[in-house]
Amino acid sequence: MSFEPNNVLITGGAGFIGANFVRHWLATTQQGKVVVLDALTYAGNIDNLKGLESDPRYAFVHGDICDEAAVKRLMETHRIDTIAHFAAESHVDRSILGPDDFIRTNIVGTHSLLKAAKALWLDKKPVATHRFHHVSTDEVYGSLGPDDEPFHEETPYAPNSPYSATKASSDHLVRAYHETYGLNTTVTNCSNNYGPYQFPEKLIPLIIINILHGKPLPVYGDGLQVRDWLHVADHCQAIALAITDGKAGEVYNVGGNSETTNITIVKTLCDLVDEQLSQRPDLAKAFPSSPAVSGRKAMDLITHVRDRLGHDRRYAINYAKAARELGYAPGRDFATGIRATLEWYLSDQAWWQALLGRDYAAWVKKNYAA
Ligand code: NAD
Ligand code: DAU
Repeated sequence: MSFEPNNVLITGGAGFIGANFVRHWLATTQQGKVVVLDALTYAGNIDNLKGLESDPRYAFVHGDICDEAAVKRLMETHRIDTIAHFAAESHVDRSILGPDDFIRTNIVGTHSLLKAAKALWLDKKPVATHRFHHVSTDEVYGSLGPDDEPFHEETPYAPNSPYSATKASSDHLVRAYHETYGLNTTVTNCSNNYGPYQFPEKLIPLIIINILHGKPLPVYGDGLQVRDWLHVADHCQAIALAITDGKAGEVYNVGGNSETTNITIVKTLCDLVDEQLSQRPDLAKAFPSSPAVSGRKAMDLITHVRDRLGHDRRYAINYAKAARELGYAPGRDFATGIRATLEWYLSDQAWWQALLGRDYAAWVKKNYAA
């Protein structure tokens, strides 16, 4: 039987996937509130939620998931019966440089939410219908060899980076709160997302923006690492299905059917951006340093740099369980999705320019001077 959520608390809703999910949920459901709780770290951006302010179903709260008392107050005030938990430190490179924030938000923060949910939904006055949905990653399963079977829900955990170790830890805590206390939980472990509102430290937006400015395109190691790319809209659909149709205590893997090497991603973007620059005078005027403007190729910017420490070689996802039990299927093939994503970054330049610095002109001069 399907669960019908009423008031949903979305943690990390000002981040990349969270913001896409807030929009998806408001567009596809008719009832109940959507309350976003976000600490607005460097990765959180209130602009990702622009346009929703006038929706009477939507509320934004600036706060930290580690503040259990504040989370409880929020849940009581808004009569929350569903949590969709996205808030996290999400960038692997940052976790290698400094794991502390990852331990705090991803482990302690998830535990703080679990404690608040248990207190209000199980201990105080039991709420029979509730759901704690935890958004996790395929990285908890470690790294695959070229001929290994894709990850499935029973693949043993083997996280290799501080980031994936903290996500694995949070997954275990969610499982424990279901097994020990009977909290109604679901978990999704998905592959690499791409699409609108992704912070430009991640591969795809970083490469697009560097090509536009004629800046080197850093490819870690040989660039033959493989990721399975999932359009964020497909991921949002899978999460919504897991919340409404997933069984308590279950885990669902979510993939995009798009295993691709990093170097192929970079070369594809080079071709696509060159094509756009040569066809659109407005872009050529706005980005004079982009190679295509002077008849060169973006591919010449590719620069192999030192590999990421502990770099996982390959991720791949078997999402048969989500297909069978939730009716999930990725709706966008990568060729279509990447074109649409590039178009979004080219149309919404103000969004990423604001992130690169307050005075974009001065920022370009400082970082991209010839
Ligand atoms: P993101 O970094 O873009 O956004 C994270 C959001 O969490 C930001 O808005 C940030 O302000 C907020 N946040 C961080 N610490 C917080 C705290 N202590 N309290 C409240 N809010 C806090 O991340 P994303 O890429 O949107 O990822 C969302 C979730 O999906 C994460 O849990 C991540 O592990 C998971 N995931 C991401 C991908 C991907 O490809 N991006 C793939 C698999 C799983
Ligand atoms: O697999 C899911 C994970 O995908 C999520 O759990 C993480 O939150 C998300 O950040 C993402 O992790 P990755 O490390 O795979 O994403 P990133 O965009 O940082 O890198 C993608 C690949 O590209 C990876 O193999 C490293 C490589 N890379 C990345 C950057 C930023 C480069 O070669 N050059 C770069 O400059």
